[in-house]
Amino acid sequence: MEVSEERRQVQSNGRCRYHRSYVIFTILLILSLCYYIIVYENSETWTATVSLFFPETFHNKINVSQTTVSGGISAEPWKPPEPYYVAYPNNYSFVINEPEKCQKENVFLVLMIPVAPGNMAARDAIRSTWGTEKLVADKIISVLFLTGLPTSQDSEKLQEDLLQESEKYHDILQSDFWDSYYNLTIKTVVMLEWLSAYCQNASYAMKIDSDMFLNVKNLVNMLLPAPKQNYMTGLVARSAMVLRNPHSKWYLPITVYSPALYPPYALGLGYVFSLDLAGKLVKAAQLVKPVYIEDVYIGMCMNHLGIALTDPPDGSLFNVFPVDYNRCRYSKLIATTTRSLQNQVDFWRDLQTPGPYC
Ligand SMILES: *[C@@H]1O[C@H](CO)[C@@H](O)[C@H](O)[C@H]1NC(C)=O
Ligand SMILES: *[C@@H]1O[C@H](CO)[C@@H](O)[C@H](O)[C@H]1NC(C)=O
Ligand SMILES: *[C@@H]1O[C@H](CO)[C@@H](O)[C@H](O)[C@H]1NC(C)=O
Ligand SMILES: *[C@@H]1O[C@H](CO)[C@@H](O)[C@H](O)[C@H]1NC(C)=O
Repeated sequence: MEVSEERRQVQSNGRCRYHRSYVIFTILLILSLCYYIIVYENSETWTATVSLFFPETFHNKINVSQTTVSGGISAEPWKPPEPYYVAYPNNYSFVINEPEKCQKENVFLVLMIPVAPGNMAARDAIRSTWGTEKLVADKIISVLFLTGLPTSQDSEKLQEDLLQESEKYHDILQSDFWDSYYNLTIKTVVMLEWLSAYCQNASYAMKIDSDMFLNVKNLVNMLLPAPKQNYMTGLVARSAMVLRNPHSKWYLPITVYSPALYPPYALGLGYVFSLDLAGKLVKAAQLVKPVYIEDVYIGMCMNHLGIALTDPPDGSLFNVFPVDYNRCRYSKLIATTTRSLQNQVDFWRDLQTPGPYC
């Protein structure tokens, strides 16, 4: 009798503990989701359309109408551009070009990094870390930064600095559109135009955001056995909801895009593709109505071409949420967002030091 009484007590205590930890777990989960959303609000290019994964109600808590874009360069209040929320992504020309960059050698992989003109800090972080890995397993890798025109008041000074930086490193491409968040689709299409014009002989390209950690060796290893054509991979979002609340960061009205779901697309933080796709996507972009969400737009163009996206061989290779640093984990992944440029640099450096990974 007493024993069973005690057991009941223990059981109910256990249940109570269980409930408590469940509540705590739920609260922690919500807090960490909020944290990540805030991290992404501050992330430079915002192309990781992460919250398309989340329900609209959650998403709507963010007031985005005054988001600063382009890494703090321009802070113009957002006015909805008409009619498609993006200038037609066509007929831009290069102010700074590197036409030889991809032609003189047989380049295996080109890393294309969209970045705001004034964000030299991000470029320098990459130049001192994964951007230095130009030869992996006999494969030649090219690294290029892609910017538009500075839009801020000190744009003349910025432009001068950019020209000097370009003289020094010869790794910058600049096209003559205004560099702003709502012009990222233009940036991506310009990137594809450049690849198809100056980089025909390369095998693969990756579009990667400047705030990412990249493990170049693992990327090359994934690509060695990959298909040579019609191949695009990354963190593939399938059946992502179109956000219909005007206050949400990625709002698209029905008049611009009527289906409830987007076609599959690879999250903009980092996607890899075979180079034949550059030309095909440029052609498709002349027919597919542009939207400002660049990764979604590439998904729409892939859909138009009838080419399916490929999931990466392992679900943990591409990471939309910053992965806590641990040598073992980082020795196995390909790309992850980071919380700061300093993390990006520190993690890469630690991974280069000798010693076992796991
Ligand atoms: C969101 O920002 C807009 C533009 O600054 C402002 O008018 C509006 O009151 C804000 N809404 C909320 C809920 O903070
Ligand atoms: C783009 O340029 C080409 C020739 O340079 C011209 O024929 C075409 O009309 C232009 N398209 C747009 C949309 O301006
Ligand atoms: C591209 O590849 C072809 C065939 O391998 C070669 O003949 C040509 O010289 C290459 N072009 C450049 C610019 O490297
Ligand atoms: C995008 O760039 C074009 C060309 O420079 C410019 O006319 C347009 O105002 C820009 N849009 C935004 C939202 O910055």
